[in-house]
Amino acid sequence: MLSETRVPIASAFDIVTARQQGRSLAKELGFENAEMTLIAAAISEVSRNIVEYAGHGVIIFQPPNNGARRGLSVIAQDKGPGIPDIAKAMQYGYSSRRGLGVGLPGAKLLMDDFDIVSKAGDGTTVTMKKWLHNAK
Ligand SMILES: Nc1ncnc2c1ncn2[C@@H]1O[C@H](COP(=O)(O)OP(=O)(O)OP(=O)(O)O)[C@@H](O)[C@H]1O
Ligand SMILES: [Mg+2]
Repeated sequence: MLSETRVPIASAFDIVTARQQGRSLAKELGFENAEMTLIAAAISEVSRNIVEYAGHGVIIFQPPNNGARRGLSVIAQDKGPGIPDIAKAMQYGYSSRRGLGVGLPGAKLLMDDFDIVSKAGDGTTVTMKKWLHNAK
């Protein structure tokens, strides 16, 4: 991965594209199959949240800027309504829309690092990272 790859998200179809792109970048970086599957599942959840709550946004794939450590960063960004209470949104089972409420806490479990920056009315940025353990 040279610098970054951006996948615009506005429909269910784009979620599939983001998953596939994430899998193929993860493979290229040296992740094993099982980890590629975890990463793809996390990408699904944050992409689906973009479509459901913000309408549209973008998934950005980057090599994390953390010295010698190698891995994959997945940034889900939208300019939607934002999340008024992040702690609440991160609770397992909390949904503002009769969802299962497992998307965000699930994505956090699947990845190594997980961070949300959001303000009501000002969009949402979810940054997730998976580190390579089998450094070659
Ligand atoms: N990009 C976003 N913009 C605005 N609100 C969001 C966004 N992502 C999540 N939320 C808020 O956080 C809550 C929890 O999200 P989470 O993905 O965990 O559950 P859900 O989407 O409600 O249900 P599930 O993902 O299990 O179908 C959502 O109900 C919504 O209120
Ligand atoms: Mg969700």
